[in-house]
Amino acid sequence: MLLESKNTVIYGGGGVIGGAVARAFAREGATVFLAGRTLARLEKVAEEIRAAGGVARTAEVDALDAKMVDEHADAVVAEAGSIDVSFNLISHGDVQGTPMADMSPEDYERPVVTAVRTMFLTSRAAARHMRRQGSGVILAFGGSGHPLRDYYLGGLQVAFEAIESMRRQLASELGPHGVRVVTLRTGGVPETIPEGFEGREAIVGGIEKMTMLGRAATLDDVGNVAAFVASDRARAMTAATANISCGSLVD
Ligand SMILES: NC(=O)c1ccc[n+]([C@@H]2O[C@H](COP(=O)([O-])OP(=O)(O)OC[C@H]3O[C@@H](n4cnc5c(N)ncnc54)[C@H](OP(=O)(O)O)[C@@H]3O)[C@@H](O)[C@H]2O)c1
Repeated sequence: MLLESKNTVIYGGGGVIGGAVARAFAREGATVFLAGRTLARLEKVAEEIRAAGGVARTAEVDALDAKMVDEHADAVVAEAGSIDVSFNLISHGDVQGTPMADMSPEDYERPVVTAVRTMFLTSRAAARHMRRQGSGVILAFGGSGHPLRDYYLGGLQVAFEAIESMRRQLASELGPHGVRVVTLRTGGVPETIPEGFEGREAIVGGIEKMTMLGRAATLDDVGNVAAFVASDRARAMTAATANISCGSLVD
């Protein structure tokens, strides 16, 4: 197994992508510490993992709150002895579908502030322990892409670009301490769009049409790549982004 005896913290572990990554990490032998604002959502994922024979803990943590993030990271280390992987997979409160010309400053800046602050706080909390350990992996969802015609992303693209910039700097600061920093990026994961969502078919069709492979990444794809990148098999990868867009984003 790729992640045997690894202690992994997943912020947003009750979400669609966070849950998929948590299940993949647990399948590969990791202990998963799920953090988010709603305990019931986290517990649902944790129960599935436990039912499959995995080990999962849950904690109420607002990733925007420095004290909560620090105390949770300290508690994980006190219980498990280390944080080997930290993955920020929270949502950013972005507003999509509204042109910038019609958007309020609050709606535009919310994803940017949320992404930068939570990436800073969660990475800082993990880095303080990983630096001492001399090892660790910090992961985040980023993604630099070309602007889409006729689709409005609000501040989300700026948020993803900021995460990529933080990935580069963190990787250079933490590399000498044995800590790797990697982002994942996709061109969209259709399973994250709820069934019955207005315009779902057109959105999914659009995502698939932009790929070279003629299909989009699945949640399993995201989990499998995340588990590999988090594992020691990827020990040469840092300051890098794993492109799992099926060819819709060209490096
Ligand atoms: N969907 C895609 O195709 C796609 C592609 C690329 C990247 N991404 C990115 O991947 C991330 C996850 O997407 P998703 O589709 O899994 O979203 P999701 O299902 O809405 O899950 C996001 C999770 O984040 C938690 N959360 C939000 N704010 C938080 C905070 N301040 N502190 C702690 N937890 C918080 C939410 O739980 P609570 O509200 O209970 O805290 C929720 O469980 C997003 O950043 C998204 O932009 C998605």
